[in-house]
Amino acid sequence: MQPKIIVKEVPIEEVVEVNKTIVEFREPYTREQFEERYGDKEKLIIVAHINKQPAGYIVSYDRFDDGSLYCWRAGVDPQFRRKGVLKALMDYQEQWARKHGYKKIKIKTRNKRREMLAYLVKYGFYFTEVIQHSAIEENRILLEKRI
Ligand SMILES: CC(C)(COP(=O)(O)OP(=O)(O)OC[C@H]1O[C@@H](n2cnc3c(N)ncnc32)[C@H](O)[C@@H]1OP(=O)(O)O)[C@@H](O)C(=O)NCCC(=O)NCCS
Repeated sequence: MQPKIIVKEVPIEEVVEVNKTIVEFREPYTREQFEERYGDKEKLIIVAHINKQPAGYIVSYDRFDDGSLYCWRAGVDPQFRRKGVLKALMDYQEQWARKHGYKKIKIKTRNKRREMLAYLVKYGFYFTEVIQHSAIEENRILLEKRI
């Protein structure tokens, strides 16, 4: 059975802590680096908890001012993966975005983020662009979903 997952809007400090557990992200961002990115734009900062333990996060913000919410960073602590944490975070984000008048979710990921790509394809995102890099695994993949 899947564990109970509770998603909450939180101060950025909580995300900074969960982010340190994401082994794929080397040199984890500081609070200042997060804050610098979204500045004073409308933003959503959420953490998912399992048994009161922080398990994963999403930070998204109004990057393009075109009716889309940009899902900037997402990650799940390796010990809580494959339990539906990303799905719960994305579902929350989608509902929040709809409530706040957004029409699309946009996201950019890397060719090597296979689990993320699997999620995005399975749950309704469409590819819009590929930005080439010299190493094919590093190609940036842009996707979006109408909500
Ligand atoms: C990508 C990531 C966030 C997925 O988190 P997760 O909580 O394990 O994902 P979920 O359990 O919610 O799975 C949701 C869907 O993702 C896909 N998925 C996740 N992990 C997968 C895996 N190992 N293999 C295949 N598909 C996978 C599946 O489609 C799954 O849907 P399903 O359970 O209905 O089949 C996590 O692996 C992670 O943090 N990876 C490193 C950081 C990263 O890549 N972040 C994204 C950068 S843009």
